[in-house]
Amino acid sequence: MTEAGKKAAEAAAYLKSLRPVCPDIGLILGSGLGSLAEQLVDEIKIPYEDIPHMPAATVAGHTGHLVLGQWCQKEVACFQGRFHYYEGHSMAEVTFPVRLLAALGSKKMFITNAAGGINPRFLPGDIMLITDHINFMGDNPLIGANDDRLGPRFPSLSTVYDPRLAGLLKETAAQKGITLREGVYIGVSGPSLETPAELRAFARWGADAVGMSTVPEVIAACHAGLKVLAMSVITNLAHGEFHHEVKHEQVLAVAGKTGSILASLLEGVCTRL
Ligand code: HPA
Repeated sequence: MTEAGKKAAEAAAYLKSLRPVCPDIGLILGSGLGSLAEQLVDEIKIPYEDIPHMPAATVAGHTGHLVLGQWCQKEVACFQGRFHYYEGHSMAEVTFPVRLLAALGSKKMFITNAAGGINPRFLPGDIMLITDHINFMGDNPLIGANDDRLGPRFPSLSTVYDPRLAGLLKETAAQKGITLREGVYIGVSGPSLETPAELRAFARWGADAVGMSTVPEVIAACHAGLKVLAMSVITNLAHGEFHHEVKHEQVLAVAGKTGSILASLLEGVCTRL
């Protein structure tokens, strides 16, 4: 087994000793979006530093806990705080939570992030269902020896965002009267924001939103056979002359305000499963 596989198995064994159940769903919550974890019941909250091999979360707005519990009558594992490539984490570290979910036996992953809106119709506070992505991070978490027990050498990404889960999300949004955007997410390494020329190029490539996460986790999830539902909260405009105004505090504030709507959407999907 590869190093990543061994580490994930050890972390999973530790978690199973605390709660010997398989999570139906893994949740990876993005910047300012961690509050959903507070809705779990019969929960245990484990600091990342207690979990073998778990990297330490460092970014403001990411608290760094894994919460295991029940949500909408489902068993869930909720990562409150994620690892960004721009922090200097390796791709193996960025995707460790996904490997851990797979080792725990989870079959679904819901993942959220904060993103800039490239599509000129998008406004801060909008929620976008990610229908596809462009990997512009300059790296890939599957580079290196492949462990065939974890997943295939050349996984197809042609339907990486699960159509059934996307359908359930759209159904929920319609029923709750929540406007849901849809589009393509382009993942960049950051931490510098995009130049105007980059944003124009990304728009021509068909990207609707840009952010510094999610793509590695989604690739690892696809490799491990997890079904993925992914959403962005548009925290700022990312086109024209507006982009120079982006501040991390603004990203966290908009994400924080939108967090409850996002939670309500995910709750709808969870109860429909
Ligand atoms: N660019 C990249 N990442 C982001 C942005 C952005 O405008 N907003 C939130 N995350």
